Amino acid sequence: MQADRTTNIPAHVPPELVKSFPLHLGATTYENPFDRIVPEIHEGPPVFYAPDGWQGLEAAWVFRRAEDLRRIYMDTEHFSSKDFAPFATLVGQDWNVLPVEADPPRHRLYRTVMNPFFSNNRVVELNDQVRQRARDYIGQFRNRGQCEFVGDFAARFPIAVFLELFGLPLEDVDQFLAWEEDLLHNPDVDDKTAAVLAVKGYIDRVAEARREHPRGDLISDIVHAEVDGYRFSDDEIFGLCFNLYLGGLDTVTTNLSWQFRHLATHPDDQARLRAEPALMPDAIEELMRAYAAVTTGRTCIKPVSVGGVELEPGDRVMMSTTLGNTDPEAFENPFAVRFDRKPRHLAFGTGIHACVGARLARRELHLAMEEIFAAIPPFRLAPDAKIRSNLGGVMNIDNLPLIWDS
Ligand code: HEM
Repeated sequence: MQADRTTNIPAHVPPELVKSFPLHLGATTYENPFDRIVPEIHEGPPVFYAPDGWQGLEAAWVFRRAEDLRRIYMDTEHFSSKDFAPFATLVGQDWNVLPVEADPPRHRLYRTVMNPFFSNNRVVELNDQVRQRARDYIGQFRNRGQCEFVGDFAARFPIAVFLELFGLPLEDVDQFLAWEEDLLHNPDVDDKTAAVLAVKGYIDRVAEARREHPRGDLISDIVHAEVDGYRFSDDEIFGLCFNLYLGGLDTVTTNLSWQFRHLATHPDDQARLRAEPALMPDAIEELMRAYAAVTTGRTCIKPVSVGGVELEPGDRVMMSTTLGNTDPEAFENPFAVRFDRKPRHLAFGTGIHACVGARLARRELHLAMEEIFAAIPPFRLAPDAKIRSNLGGVMNIDNLPLIWDS
């Protein structure tokens, strides 16, 4: 790939397609990004080349059409998932987050071990524990007439479920939350590095303990797994656990936060779901579409043409589920939430890397909605609420102050 020295833009990139990506890592806003920022991206070209696209640091292609994103998700011949999460590099080590950074054929090995743990039956088995964790947190604020939904519920509940899955002590919720904040949302590189090393130390210690004394939890299954005679190395065991940590906590927190923000600001939708709980699964699916928050990445490994542009090996691509799920060509009136839409959406990705925890995530979202509706009367956004969104990576909100009449 030849670079144009004056602009640092590769020669195969049409200069008219170079433009900034408003949803890059590090960007923040106090407006609701779904009101203006995301719709404005859809007014631009179907694909553009953003000098700040990749982690806010490197250039990357941004495709905004669901069709192009779907095509790239499915195409493991021209696109690799390797090295899109910068955590090992940050601490000067050499492991991958697995399976999300693995390509075929290796990828299949990891999913063979993980898939059964997230089967329908396993998720149903977890139902009572997950519901109880939701009740525990709601019980702490239900009589207060107000809560800060992100801190009081959305951030803690998925961590408690994760600890349950891994057979880890619930007292560790606050520690996990602090690490998660540093890993994913703290711009300070030293804090981030310290958090990666701390999580690595913690998971390595637990894996070692489960090697001696397996307990029937997910981490014991990973440590003792054998697929086609192959056993995972220590780095692979850590990479698999770390993916569940990164993939299973912040994503659920974020979706809960956006969905409850919607319900707090759309009283008719909230009233409808309270009156007709059977609508919840379809409503959650539509809310997942409308407020998809995850952006991951791919790297081109063979020349290929997608969406009318030529990509060269080494080109980075942002995989924004936010954009794919609000593409006006794929969804009529995409910024309207319609519980009867039954969308075929991209919030969980698609292809070989499609989210392994999707069933569990849907279960968590459903149980949370049921339990909150049961415990709390209709809620609304606190007046003068100032809500900050972090736009890159997983597009989350910092806080969500809710009030209700008690
Ligand atoms: C609402 C919540 C969630 C959302 C929106 C979400 C979204 C996604 C997306 C978009 C991908 C595909 C990434 C790519 O192809 O680059 C993915 C993969 C993954 N997710 Fe989730 N996720 C959620 C919850 C969970 C949960 C609860 C877990 C597990 C506890 C989990 C574990 C994983 C793992 C391990 C992968 C990698 C799969 C692979 O590479 O084969 N996720 N998720």
